[in-house]
Amino acid sequence: MEVIVQPTAEEATEVAARIVGNLIRRKPDAVLGLATGSTPVRLYQKLVEKALDWSRITVFNLDEYVGLPQEHPQSYRVFMRENLFNQTNIRLENTHIPDGNAADLPASCRAYEEKIREAGGVDLQLLGIGSDGHIGFNEPTSSLASRTRIKTLTPRTRADNARFFGGEDAVPHHVVTMGIGTILESKKILLLAFGEGKAEALAGAVEGALTATNPASALQMHEKAIVCADAAAASRLARLDYYRWVYENKPQWQKE
Ligand code: PGA
Repeated sequence: MEVIVQPTAEEATEVAARIVGNLIRRKPDAVLGLATGSTPVRLYQKLVEKALDWSRITVFNLDEYVGLPQEHPQSYRVFMRENLFNQTNIRLENTHIPDGNAADLPASCRAYEEKIREAGGVDLQLLGIGSDGHIGFNEPTSSLASRTRIKTLTPRTRADNARFFGGEDAVPHHVVTMGIGTILESKKILLLAFGEGKAEALAGAVEGALTATNPASALQMHEKAIVCADAAAASRLARLDYYRWVYENKPQWQKE
């Protein structure tokens, strides 16, 4: 794993925006895997500021709540429209978000996997990390080989997300999420982690044992996983000085 640590979330986001922006310029028909939550909001703003051409880009989002009306302010379709899609020239038919209202959810999950395959796979998957180590909504003990499917949120994740819903009771129990196996098939992964609340999960993911109890540790199995963290999220990493040295002394041929 490449671990890039910057003093602030703003600076870490700047690095991430450069990585995503360079990919869009280099491969105008790239397939991006996108994430929601607080973490990527500033990244999306920075990408909008770059005035990139999204006309041939395809996106697949990681997850969606089950049973929220599509126009619910906390649905991830609304989130993506407001934070990114409406401010770019992306074609809405090239944006894909799991359907949390499908009459046949398992069939819809299988179809989502098929659509990703038909698009040629994900070139770059963006991830946040839950305070419990989840990626997408793959909660602890998710199968490391899992595919897009229905998951039940843990009480901790529902408490973490209560801030968006004005209370925990309003947070749905069920979600549809790409699996860990799905995520690991993307060609490159970029995980963002900001704030002290993510420090323990990030340390487990990067330096702990590979375990389903910290789903983000599955990234240790990926050939090209990059972590962009701020100092607070990186504060529990034992090899922090090493990661800093590696990044600061990266040879030109290795740079994005
Ligand atoms: P957050 O969520 O960005 O809102 O902290 C991260 C996640 O749950 O993946």
